[in-house]
Amino acid sequence: MATTKRYDVKDLSLAPEGVRRIAWADRQMPVLAAIRERFQSEQPLAGYRISACLHVTTETANLARTLQAGGADVVLCASNPLSTQDDVAAALVEEFDVSVFAIKGEDNDTYYQHIEAAVDHKPQLTMDDGADVIGVLHSHRREQLGDIIAGTEETTTGVIRLKALEADGALGFPIIAVNEAKTKHLFDNRYGTGQSTIDGIVRATNVLLAGKRFVVAGYGWVGRGVAMRAKGMGSHVIVTEVDPVRALEAAMDGFEVMSMTEAAEVGDIFCTATGDKSVITREHMVRMKDGAILANTGHFNVEIEIPALRQLATETRESREFVEEFTLEDGTRLYLLGDGRLINLAAAEGHPALVMDMSFANQALSAEYAVENAAELERKVYPVPEEIDQEIARLKLETMGISIDRLTEDQARYLASWDEGT
Ligand SMILES: NC(=O)c1ccc[n+]([C@@H]2O[C@H](COP(=O)([O-])OP(=O)(O)OC[C@H]3O[C@@H](n4cnc5c(N)ncnc54)[C@H](O)[C@@H]3O)[C@@H](O)[C@H]2O)c1
Repeated sequence: MATTKRYDVKDLSLAPEGVRRIAWADRQMPVLAAIRERFQSEQPLAGYRISACLHVTTETANLARTLQAGGADVVLCASNPLSTQDDVAAALVEEFDVSVFAIKGEDNDTYYQHIEAAVDHKPQLTMDDGADVIGVLHSHRREQLGDIIAGTEETTTGVIRLKALEADGALGFPIIAVNEAKTKHLFDNRYGTGQSTIDGIVRATNVLLAGKRFVVAGYGWVGRGVAMRAKGMGSHVIVTEVDPVRALEAAMDGFEVMSMTEAAEVGDIFCTATGDKSVITREHMVRMKDGAILANTGHFNVEIEIPALRQLATETRESREFVEEFTLEDGTRLYLLGDGRLINLAAAEGHPALVMDMSFANQALSAEYAVENAAELERKVYPVPEEIDQEIARLKLETMGISIDRLTEDQARYLASWDEGT
């Protein structure tokens, strides 16, 4: 299909490879495919302009196809300068007639120009992964706020930022917090990020994880996924936390828990997964062992203090793609992966399609829900409705060939009563 759209991608000749890989991911995304089929006949998004700022991966391509099948006019830009798959961007433009503004490795200025291009589309619905489109709309494109019926937000960090905006009374339109759906964070953040973060670290370095001291900062949904998978690869896992309950959970899950100051001295591999800033600081870096590897899988590249690392270094060089070596004054060498950006997307391919199937089913159904309920929604951050969450879990189980028991009427009555059967 020859494109009629505006776009800025690396190279349109990469499209055939993108098409092949999008089809491969689609095989693992049966729930989204079923939604796409229904959208095709019911057209719930007919005529709606959507600006989506998501990681430009094969799975996102299948979401864009689904929204388009529902009648939407979709523009896509990247939610991280390093996460774009250039063949997928080309395929979306060339084969699926979706406007894409994203190039892997784009500089900061280009990254923000691409977000502006997505906002130029005059969206009625926004889809964010980290609230960047919403950020632009709430700063210097406020005249467009009134056109927007709702937005969706994919990740923990974005939801935190949007709840802060809501608390300030400054949220310009309703938001559906896709990350809050159980069928999103319990699977995507934990199993998806767990596997793909290990994949990213291994692809970038090819180090053996067995026998290494692997430090995970943060024991939220992402941190527990990474810790669980690093343990499975034979690493000795150390967890750092600031929340006493989560620290306790990590200890009782069998991990060693300590402060980052202590962990800095013993860790071989560090992976931050907190959504916080300055988790690994200069004070920690100077304690680290020669050869320590530093990676981040949280949303922004502020978890490792990269400017401090640059100041400490007397020499830097690229050791391999995605691996930068920093030599400190005493000769210690530290290795930063993927410029401190989410390593699963920078050096690997992001989450496997099977979990993104559920995350993006939530995105597609939340967009439909927002359109259907536009008149009632206020300028608040809403969870994904429980019925959507349950339906996605039910469909996913079905596609996995798993059937489960159902409550009998008698059991349902018993569970709802305070005195029956006591
Ligand atoms: N790489 C990916 O593909 C991907 C996928 C999903 C989420 N994320 C991002 O990962 C981050 C974590 O997400 P989550 O869902 O696990 O969040 P979460 O809120 O469940 O967990 C974060 C944990 O980090 C802890 N923490 C905060 N500051 C800390 C510090 N200084 N030291 C140690 N621990 C600290 C918190 O107490 C909390 O337990 C967010 O930025 C999220 O957007 C990335």
